[in-house]
Amino acid sequence: MPDFLWGAAASAHQYEGNNVNSDWWWLESQGAMERSGAAVDGYHRYADDMRLLADAGLNAFRFSLEWARIEPAQGEFAAAELIHYRRMIDTALSLGLTPVVTLLHFTHPRWFIEKGGWRNPQAVGHFARYVEKVTAILGDVEWVCTINEPNIHTLTARMMERLAAGEQVPPISAGPGARLPLPDPEIGAVLADAHATARDIVRARTRAQAGWTVACRALTPTPGNEERFAEVKYHWEDFYLEQAKGDDFVGVQAYTSQPVDADGVVPHPPSPTNTLTGWAFRPDALGIAIRNAADVTRGTPIVVTENGIATDDDKRRVQYIDEALGTLFDATDDGIDIRGYLHWSATDNFEWGHWAPTFGLIGVDRTTLARTPRPSLSRLGDIARGGYRHAT
Ligand code: BGC
Repeated sequence: MPDFLWGAAASAHQYEGNNVNSDWWWLESQGAMERSGAAVDGYHRYADDMRLLADAGLNAFRFSLEWARIEPAQGEFAAAELIHYRRMIDTALSLGLTPVVTLLHFTHPRWFIEKGGWRNPQAVGHFARYVEKVTAILGDVEWVCTINEPNIHTLTARMMERLAAGEQVPPISAGPGARLPLPDPEIGAVLADAHATARDIVRARTRAQAGWTVACRALTPTPGNEERFAEVKYHWEDFYLEQAKGDDFVGVQAYTSQPVDADGVVPHPPSPTNTLTGWAFRPDALGIAIRNAADVTRGTPIVVTENGIATDDDKRRVQYIDEALGTLFDATDDGIDIRGYLHWSATDNFEWGHWAPTFGLIGVDRTTLARTPRPSLSRLGDIARGGYRHAT
């Protein structure tokens, strides 16, 4: 697979630090969750992190541009931030890493939320103007993800609406035992419109392949609940996958798998083998997610834009990667068009209100910010160089 993307991913708010003009910074300042603060200082340390990825044998790095930095006040664009992100792209290219650039990874400028967020009739226009501006630095970028996990984004957007209404907002998940509400279909439809608009702008102004990345939950039916399963799966992910039918690719993001019963998605039962996010250890979720995405999009090329595990035992991460990639290779053998695998995450980072779940191929000491590449990084790098398939 000569052009296959083998890499790792990060997102601006989780990685960079001091994203002070964003809605999440505002949310964290309420005191109901841990704060991102300096995050892992990716804003200043990206070159070192990219070098570690490249030295290990990877050839791609996915990161996001931060709208709240680029347009901190409505209509005011920060040239220095565009230059900063262009430098990131250049650094990746100089190290032999293909940049995979996400335009919106959960966070918005605070002003956008104060003006009604995605329910403002002008929301898509606001987003489109930002996208037009950033295409100025994306001319030679080959892969652009417009919106990250629009299905989960509808839930975080709801949190921001409550924040703007002056309510006290609890952390994103009330634990693995909670049943998340279904994605908000009204916001989902607006995001679909925003995605199509952004995709067309990117296609017109750059040579990038454009797509969005969907949180694929690898849902499975329980006996007697097949209809409910199809309905829940549609609302959770198939609606979002369907929007990718005309796209250049679709990003598949999968971590774990859950059954669906008459009441919806069944929470993960407590188990000593659950990961640090409380999710079941299910590397096979990747294969389930890939197959569903291929089926629903009817063959839109797939890039696995996220897949990973929160653990403090790197041996489990290695096992997870090996097993997840086994399901990816099986899908490729069955003729599914897969163009890349980007592990979540490049480094440990801020897990949306929590610091304990560590997802990184590279560990980060939160006091010194020192980086320690983990054996899982070498493992993925060896696979990227072609060792895995030779070894099996
Ligand atoms: C998101 C990431 C997040 C990861 C693990 C995805 O929902 O895109 O930002 O850190 O999953 O929870």
